[in-house]
Amino acid sequence: MVAFVGVAWLEDLPPGRAMTVTIGDQKLALVNVGGTVHAIDDACLHAGLSLGEGALDGETLCCGGHGWRYDVTTGCLLGVPGLCVRTHAVQVVDGRIKVAVD
Ligand code: FES
Repeated sequence: MVAFVGVAWLEDLPPGRAMTVTIGDQKLALVNVGGTVHAIDDACLHAGLSLGEGALDGETLCCGGHGWRYDVTTGCLLGVPGLCVRTHAVQVVDGRIKVAVD
């Protein structure tokens, strides 16, 4: 059974912003796309830099390291089919962002 764990408050992640959260030993990037929160693994597939510190443009998150760009709805690199970071289900309950952990 999947459990949802509270990781941040929605008020701390306004639309158009990204942030990094930690659950145990796992780091996730959270992004707010027009009020919808998405969660993906935080480590860029290029050199492992934090995606939560990247720049969000619509549904595209650009890694601050060398500019690799990800679709936050799928976790996949743009223009590179099949190369993706993991995505995680998100719930927002009473302003609290909760992410599915396994
Ligand atoms: S570490 Fe992300 S593009 Fe290089």
